[in-house]
Amino acid sequence: MAYQEIIAKFADVPGGMIEAFHAIQDEYAYLPEEAIIEAAKVFSVPTAEAYGVATFYSYFSVKARGKNVIRICESAPCHIAGAAEVVAALERELGISMGNSTADGRFALEFTECVGQCQATPVITINCKPYFDVTPAKVTDILAEYK
Ligand code: FES
Repeated sequence: MAYQEIIAKFADVPGGMIEAFHAIQDEYAYLPEEAIIEAAKVFSVPTAEAYGVATFYSYFSVKARGKNVIRICESAPCHIAGAAEVVAALERELGISMGNSTADGRFALEFTECVGQCQATPVITINCKPYFDVTPAKVTDILAEYK
């Protein structure tokens, strides 16, 4: 769906800009600049304010990135449980380093803070789905779900 259609759907909803940004990011994996400018027009706020919303929440990305966003928790409990080995396995499997996206636009690799699942470390999320007790050996099977 085009970002204009998505924004129009939320035009009359209270707090609609944030909801529109969520829906746009679900569709595009990030918030394109044109979409932020369009949202500012539709919600009658200055462009700088729309950018402020888009950049305030760490969940939103204004940088183009792969469609499936893999986030690896780098907080202490996950770190101690072996997150670095999982990071290495993901980087090796995808052929990219943390903070980057695959050339085919399928995957992006990002760090995140604790996602509140410290009972099952290390934890990764792909889009919004969590994976628990991740080991390097599990990485290939997890990624296969998205290929
Ligand atoms: S420290 Fe990783 S989920 Fe809490």
